[in-house]
Amino acid sequence: MKKFRSDFLWGGACAANQCEGAWNKDGKGLSTIDVLSIDERHKDHVTLELRENVIYPSHKGNQFYEKYKEDIRLLAEMGFKCFRLSINWTRIFPNGDDEEPNELGLQFYENIFKECKKYNIEPLVTLSHCEMPLNLTKNYKGWANRKCIDFFVKYATTCFKRYKDLVKYWITFNEINFIFNIGYLYQNGGVNLEEGDNKRELLYQVAHNQLVANAKCVIECLEIIPGSYCNASLSSTICYPRSSDPLDYYEALKDMNEYQYGFLDVMCNGEYNYQWLNTIEKENLHIETEPEDFAILKKGTANYIPFSYYFSGLSIDRTAEVTSDRIHNNDNPYLDKTEWGFIVDPTGLRSACDVYFGRYNKPLFIVENGIAKCEELVDGTVHDDYRIDYFRNHINALHQAVDDGCDILGFTSWAPIDLISQGEGKMSKRYGFIYVDINDDGSGTGNRYKKDSFYWYKKVITSNGEDLD
Ligand code: BG6
Repeated sequence: MKKFRSDFLWGGACAANQCEGAWNKDGKGLSTIDVLSIDERHKDHVTLELRENVIYPSHKGNQFYEKYKEDIRLLAEMGFKCFRLSINWTRIFPNGDDEEPNELGLQFYENIFKECKKYNIEPLVTLSHCEMPLNLTKNYKGWANRKCIDFFVKYATTCFKRYKDLVKYWITFNEINFIFNIGYLYQNGGVNLEEGDNKRELLYQVAHNQLVANAKCVIECLEIIPGSYCNASLSSTICYPRSSDPLDYYEALKDMNEYQYGFLDVMCNGEYNYQWLNTIEKENLHIETEPEDFAILKKGTANYIPFSYYFSGLSIDRTAEVTSDRIHNNDNPYLDKTEWGFIVDPTGLRSACDVYFGRYNKPLFIVENGIAKCEELVDGTVHDDYRIDYFRNHINALHQAVDDGCDILGFTSWAPIDLISQGEGKMSKRYGFIYVDINDDGSGTGNRYKKDSFYWYKKVITSNGEDLD
């Protein structure tokens, strides 16, 4: 079998709002997620105000803001070559439309990146991971407003310039396609849906504005940091036909065209695909564009494809009254699922690599993959053999994709250290190799404990993915 590249970047990934806490420290502004309570997840309309006696998980996170040195030391102990984390936009530009950046915020991330470099860990940095300045949501309607393109590019270039000697791998938007899932027009697009809004129109408008912003960032990044990599990441959901009925194959194709290629075609080839253009025309969606947008999309094509992979999907159930979404009603008789309904499908990861690499011929980076469980600490550890099995099977599938001829730059697990779940807003949905003693209500010591998978992943990294026993 072909081997993983000798410079393969093994590591793990997290996001600012899920781990940092310190939501109002050192000049940070309010972000959309700071007003999102546990109860308001998976909703298209949110209160947008802080209320008394409500738990806002982002306010405490897993205490990474205070503990980042300890955490990075633990990652280094596992042999990490790469650490993916996100910058919180509101630490740099607290309101999003500020004239000047907040120096304390810039300094915080500089300290983190320097700490990584101390251990030869390559930072992989996301600029927008499920949040944006609340001010932009309240006063501009989030990414539905194209003014956000300039605000974001200003924020991004401020980071590119400041960190050009420290960071080479960039992700503009986390899972740019996830807006199509309920609740994520707000979490990823900063749009709080009001009565009378045309959701379909807003979805495509947000997508267009973010795609233009992405292309502009790619252009800036490659100019400011020669040799760097920059693109938005994709939430990968390979869609299988529900049956061998040709109609199901057609539905699967349509889903891939909308949810996967619809974004990748623009990011990698600089062009909208026929299905998106047709949808916009047929549904009579009014999308605001400027003539120069299309030249920017063409010029700002990306040089790698970062993507997250948790599950595969099935084409819609044509017989059901309630349509399935990409996470629910997707039971596949050949596959197990987690208690949160995530279908476990290692071969889907291999197929995803083959599909993206075959279609776009750009290096890939798996920037998220992992399994959550409710876990309890017993005698200072967790025996998480299910997590070891999960990663063994997925890394094996990845190895097969390498053997198929795909160029894969790296793999960052989600998430090496327990953190708040994005979908549920809870600590108890745990993904880590490292257990964090914090409960759903925010109580707990915050202490870190190594699970069994900690030692297993260390061995995987040391052997460059050869020893998966
Ligand atoms: C990805 C997100 O979609 O899924 C992460 O980028 C998120 O932020 C991860 O944490 C897992 O989802 P959840 O809802 O289990 O946290």
